[in-house]
This record gives sequence, C-alpha cells and structure tokens, in this order.
Amino acid sequence: MAEYTVGLIVGSVSEPSLNRRFADALVRLTPETGLVVRDIPIAELPFYGAQYDKDFPTVGRAFKDAIEKVDGLLIVTPEYNRSIPGVLKNAIDWATRPAGHSSLTGKPTAVTGASKGVISTALAQNHLKAILVAQGAPLVGAPEVYIRITDDFFTEDGAIANEGTREFLTAFLQRLHELIRRWQ
Ligand code: FNR
Repeated sequence: MAEYTVGLIVGSVSEPSLNRRFADALVRLTPETGLVVRDIPIAELPFYGAQYDKDFPTVGRAFKDAIEKVDGLLIVTPEYNRSIPGVLKNAIDWATRPAGHSSLTGKPTAVTGASKGVISTALAQNHLKAILVAQGAPLVGAPEVYIRITDDFFTEDGAIANEGTREFLTAFLQRLHELIRRWQ
C-alpha cells in the first residue's frame, strides 16, 4: 500500500480540547491505513488582514508550506454557535491567500468533528465543507463522520473504546487514502 502524508488541522485552541483528544485517538488508527499524519498548528496565526498579502509573514508562509507539503488534509472541527470556530476560519483564510494562490485547491481533504451535543458538529461540518468546495478541494463525501462524545467514548489511555466505532473511523481514513491516490 502506498504511504501518503496527511496534515492534521484541529479547529480548536481550547485547553483541554475535546476535538484534540478525538483527533489524537483518530491518529492512533492510521497505521493500518497507509496515512502518516503531521500536525499543522493554527494557534500562532494572527488574525488575517489583506495588508499581509503584500508582505506575507513567516508564520503565514510556514502554515501554507505545511499544507502544500502534505498529500492530503484531515480537519477535525468543533462546532461553536452552529458553525466552525473563528480560529479555524482564520486559518482557512490564511491558507487561501494571497488571491489566486490557495493552498487548499486540489488538496484531498476529509472533515470530521466531535461534540457532546446531539447534532455532533453536523452544522459546523456542513459550513466547512461548503468553504472547501469553493476552494476546489476534493472531499471525502462518505461516510459522513459526526462524533458524539459520551462518557465511555474513550478508554482510560485515550483510545476509542468501541470496536465498531474504530472500524467505522478506519474505513473513513481509508476513504481519504483512496481519494489521495485518485488525485495523485
Ligand atoms: C460550544 N459548543 C457547541 N456544541 C455544539 O454541538 N453545537 C454548538 O453550536 C456549540 N456551540 C458552542 C459555542 C462555544 C463558544 C463553545 C465554547 C462551545 C460546545 C462544544 O461542542 C464543546 O465545548 C466542545 O468541547 C468544543 O470542542 P473543543 O474546542 O473542546 O475541541
């Protein structure tokens, strides 16, 4: 099986973050999928403003370079007020600039997210997918992965407790592997 690199973007800077915890557990499933995950942090990005287009700061360039170097993206987003958190939107805005140089165009991407609520990030993920489609990023359309975190979701050492959930999430990661392969 070919090995592909995947940039992991977690759309939360909360400490602790439920979505970081979920992302860490998801990464533990990747060895059998042929995906090698690299974290792409977003917390150090300043608020994007158009003045940066002329003189792109090192932090913005490093963020775009990190995306451009990987074969695909895995974005794990919380839902804040029925949409994606501002920090994630800010990071996406950086990735799409300067105009005409979006690092997201043609980048195979899978989206998921976790919440304790019943709608389990469905609205946030819908918003995020619409943004990514507008950037020309090919997406894993199915399965959709809306994770509702219950008290018994994680094992004590942070793995995903339920075997069926682990299998479902592994299949989701395998779809990302397939999408990357088709786009190579
Ligand atoms: C939330 N939360 C939340 N949950 C949800 O399912 N739908 C929502 O619209 C919201 N809105 C919302 C707004 C704000 C400002 C906060 C801080 C939280 C709850 C949210 O799912 C919960 O705090 C998660 O732990 C957020 O994920 P992270 O940041 O911990 O990864």
